Amino acid sequence: MTEPQKPKRRPRYSGKNPRHFHEKYKELNPERYAEDVAKVVASGKTPAGTHRPIMVREIIETLAPKPGDIAVDATLGYGGHTTELLKAILPGGRLIAVDADPIELPKTESRLRASGFGNDVLTVRRSNFAGLAKVLTAEGITGADVLLADLGLSSMQIDDPARGFTFKHSGPLDLRINPQRGQPASAFLAGLDAPALAQLLEANADEPNATAIARAIIEAQARGAIQTTTALAAIVTDALTRLHGASARDTAQNAVRRVFQAIRIAVNDEFGALDMLLRQLPGCLKPGGRVAILTFHSGEDRRVKQAFKDGERSGIYARIATEVIRPGADELRANPRSAPAKLRWAVRA
Ligand SMILES: C[S@@+](CC[C@H](N)C(=O)[O-])C[C@H]1O[C@@H](n2cnc3c(N)ncnc32)[C@H](O)[C@@H]1O
Repeated sequence: MTEPQKPKRRPRYSGKNPRHFHEKYKELNPERYAEDVAKVVASGKTPAGTHRPIMVREIIETLAPKPGDIAVDATLGYGGHTTELLKAILPGGRLIAVDADPIELPKTESRLRASGFGNDVLTVRRSNFAGLAKVLTAEGITGADVLLADLGLSSMQIDDPARGFTFKHSGPLDLRINPQRGQPASAFLAGLDAPALAQLLEANADEPNATAIARAIIEAQARGAIQTTTALAAIVTDALTRLHGASARDTAQNAVRRVFQAIRIAVNDEFGALDMLLRQLPGCLKPGGRVAILTFHSGEDRRVKQAFKDGERSGIYARIATEVIRPGADELRANPRSAPAKLRWAVRA
């Protein structure tokens, strides 16, 4: 295994501790600064450039992977769940992992290879999970024993301002999981009028002030394209302050979060991709094969719940989760980012 590289010099930053993503050189080099990174994790935070896998115990209990199994991870991310699945299916098993992100995928693959998972047990493909059936066919897989989809974004994507997902630090208004495809959020917004944007904010994030926020965004856009994440956040905050007064700080923060969520879902066609995945799922599983899906907002959970219900009614699934499974109190304390997670499962007939 190669010795991890130490950065040539620590980045310059003002104050005692780094505040910005790219200044957190210790967290961005976890192999070298393991002790410092462990302290960050113990404080309930996610170290910069990483992702902490959510509901690992519940997912492993639900999927019950065993040596020799064929496993599929439809959302590789930082590779946390993949690592646990691989440990459970070896010896004799094989795992196919996909992710749409061309920036993080090669880094995750390198880490997994450096941990000793070779091509014989782990196949990594950059793909949207909307095309999962095709990927599996190309790999000669006729059905998986266990399949996981952990929806949404990885923390390292959210936290990196250059990706344009966070409104806490300024970055380009991009919000694409695959920046090589489609158009950035700034261009997407430029093609909308106020009623279309209001409808999108309601449909994708149940935004209660959708009309006022949409009008404010489109008016601001008429004065010049909205190019940064902080510019969009400021427009939404101003609109909310005009509506509810300066005391509405929390309301404004939540509205900004919902606006970013709604636009991100649209830019990446997240519901379209999830619907495609749900349609293909039965064909990707062996008889008796198990699938677990982790969702992070109601629009995703509604779709998964309905698809599993329909599948059980039509006899495609033998059993499905009757109740949603939520993170336990310990995990919520240790990793507050797990709070919105909901887990559902189904077993192929
Ligand atoms: C919550 S993270 C997964 C984290 C992972 N389970 C781990 O333990 O590190 C979700 C991942 O799914 C990917 N993703 C989201 N939508 C996708 C899609 N339609 N197709 C493929 N990957 C997608 C994102 O790029 C992100 O890396």
